[in-house]
Amino acid sequence: MIKILVCYYSRSGTTERMAEEIGKGMEECEIDCEIDLQSVEVTDVDSLLEYDSIVLGSPTYYGLPAGEMKSFLDESVKHHGKLEGKVGGAFASSANPAGGNETTVIALLEALMIHGMVVKGTSKGNHYGPVVIGKPEDGELEQCRDYGKMIAELTAGVIDR
Ligand SMILES: Cc1cc2nc3c(=O)[nH]c(=O)nc-3n(C[C@H](O)[C@H](O)[C@H](O)COP(=O)(O)O)c2cc1C
Repeated sequence: MIKILVCYYSRSGTTERMAEEIGKGMEECEIDCEIDLQSVEVTDVDSLLEYDSIVLGSPTYYGLPAGEMKSFLDESVKHHGKLEGKVGGAFASSANPAGGNETTVIALLEALMIHGMVVKGTSKGNHYGPVVIGKPEDGELEQCRDYGKMIAELTAGVIDR
């Protein structure tokens, strides 16, 4: 069985909702996986070592991840080199269509790549990772579920890394 962490920061609930949908997509696919959905505020940085896959989500704050998520990433330096080869992913919410959600996703992916993790884009829809703009719409939530399925399959080796 594979273990996946979906770790998010959310002040008003949108990014948390995305995390739940990503978790649903993981649960609904055929992969045998244990999924932990956790706010970054309660995530122990030492627990990162337990997971096969780590997916991070944040609201867009001034075009970048929230400070809480950045602090967590800075704390993760104590495990630098030990997350090599794990699967990574990222998602973000924002208020505006061009409000920096993509730059937020990329900033999260950059950190995961510096940890040596494996990151996959997609040729369809949200290329870097799912985003929600304002109130979540059905199509956006569907992209979250699809992303969860892709991460689980990638981690299980059903699709190539
Ligand atoms: C401090 C702060 C900065 C923000 N900066 C941006 C921004 O640069 N671009 C944008 O589109 N939305 C911005 N927003 C809006 C949030 O990204 C958006 O409401 C997000 O969906 C909130 O996520 P949450 O419900 O998970 O807390 C900002 C909100 C706050 C509180």
